[in-house]
Amino acid sequence: MNSQLVQQLIRNYRPGFSLEQAFYIHSDVFAYEWEYIFKTQWLYAGSTAQIPKPGDYFLYQLRQESIIVIRGNHGEVHAHYNTCRHRGSAICLADAGHAVKLICPYHQWVYDKDGTLLQARMMPDDFCKEEYALQSVQVRVAEGLIFICLSADAPDFSPVLKSLAPYIRPYNIHKAKLACKKNYILQANWKLVAENFRECYHCGGAHPEYCNAVIGASLREDTQALTTDKQQDWKAKGLATELVEAVNDTTTYAIRYPLRPGIESYSVDGKKVSIPMGMHTDHDAGVVGLVNYPNFWMDAVSDYIWTMRVTPVSASVTDVEFCWLVDEKAIEGKDYTIERLTEFWEITGEQDGKLCENNFKGILSSAYRPGPYAPVEDQVMNFVNWCVARLKEGLAKGTKQGSEKYF
Ligand code: FES
Ligand SMILES: [Fe+2]
Repeated sequence: MNSQLVQQLIRNYRPGFSLEQAFYIHSDVFAYEWEYIFKTQWLYAGSTAQIPKPGDYFLYQLRQESIIVIRGNHGEVHAHYNTCRHRGSAICLADAGHAVKLICPYHQWVYDKDGTLLQARMMPDDFCKEEYALQSVQVRVAEGLIFICLSADAPDFSPVLKSLAPYIRPYNIHKAKLACKKNYILQANWKLVAENFRECYHCGGAHPEYCNAVIGASLREDTQALTTDKQQDWKAKGLATELVEAVNDTTTYAIRYPLRPGIESYSVDGKKVSIPMGMHTDHDAGVVGLVNYPNFWMDAVSDYIWTMRVTPVSASVTDVEFCWLVDEKAIEGKDYTIERLTEFWEITGEQDGKLCENNFKGILSSAYRPGPYAPVEDQVMNFVNWCVARLKEGLAKGTKQGSEKYF
C-alpha cells in the first residue's frame, strides 16, 4: 500500500462538501485513519463505574489490539496490551471481570495490576523479571471517564480535561453505577456515525421521541429566551454552562441545553427515570452534551448518563457501545428499571443506526458524489476537516520518517 490515493483524496477534498466515496469505503484510507487517528489520539475506553474495585477490569478491543483496562490497588487505572510477555498469549479472555493478579492462561506467568511481572515459573535464576512487564498504554481519567492513547507521544490531554471536567464533575462518576451496557455492530463507516451525531438537521424527521424531550431539536422552535433563562438558574446552582466548541484542531465539544418545559429526563414519557445523580438535587439540570473526537459522545440528564463509544472494526463496520450510568444509591426496581432507563436511547440510537447504515448504502453507489453541507451542519464539517487534517499531518510526518514502508 502506498499513500498516493490518500494524498490525492486530500488534495481533492472540498471543505463544505461531504467526503468522496473512497474516504468511506477504501481500505487504504482506513489503514491511514487507523495509523494517524486511532493510534495517535486520546480514545475514550470506558468509565471508572465499570471497574469500581481494585482488580476489576474490562477489555477494549480495537481491531487487533486488545487493551486491558484495570483498577489498581489504590484506585488508579492502568491499561496494558493484552499480550503475555512470554510467548504472547492473550491474558484476559473475558470481556470484563475481576482479577487479583493477571495470570496468563498458557504457562501461568503472573502479573500485578500495574503490569509488573511477579512470577515466571521454572525460568532460570538469572531471568530478569523487570524486563518483562506488560506493555502499558497511557491512561488519563477525566472525572471518571477513562481515556487511553496507543501512542507513546500522546497529545496534551489538558485541554480535553479542562473542557470536560466542569461538566462531568457533578455526576460523581467515580461513585456511579453502571446499570447497562450494549454493543451494536453497524454496517457503516465510523465517520458516518460520528457525522450523524454532530448535527440535528436530521432530528425533526427521524427522532419524534428526542424532539419531544428536547426543545429546538427539530430546528423549528426558538429556544433563545428559555436557554438564557435556564442558564441563569444553572449558573446559580454552580453548574457549567459555557459552550466549548470544537474549532480548528481541538477535539472537544461541550454544551448544556434545556429540556422542553415540563420534561424531567430523557425518557419516552418525559418523566424522571431515576434519582438525581451525584451532586444534583433535582431533575432540572437540562442536558449535558459532550463529544471528544474521534470516538466519545455523552449525553447526561439530571438522573442518568448515557455514553457512546465509537470503534471502527473495518472501513465498513463500526462497533458502537452504549453505557447507562446511574447514581450509586439508585436501587434497581425501586428507583429505576433497566427498561425505562434504556428505552429512550435504544429507540433514538436505533433510529440513528439505521440512518448511518442507509447513508453508507447510498455512498456505495457509483453515482454518489460529495454534496453540500447546510449551515446547521457546521460541526459535521468541523469533524471532517479535523479528520482530513490528521491524515495530512500524519502523512507529512510519516513521509519524513520513512514509515511508508510500514504499510
Ligand atoms: S504465553 Fe503467557 S505464560 Fe506462556
Ligand atoms: Fe440522531
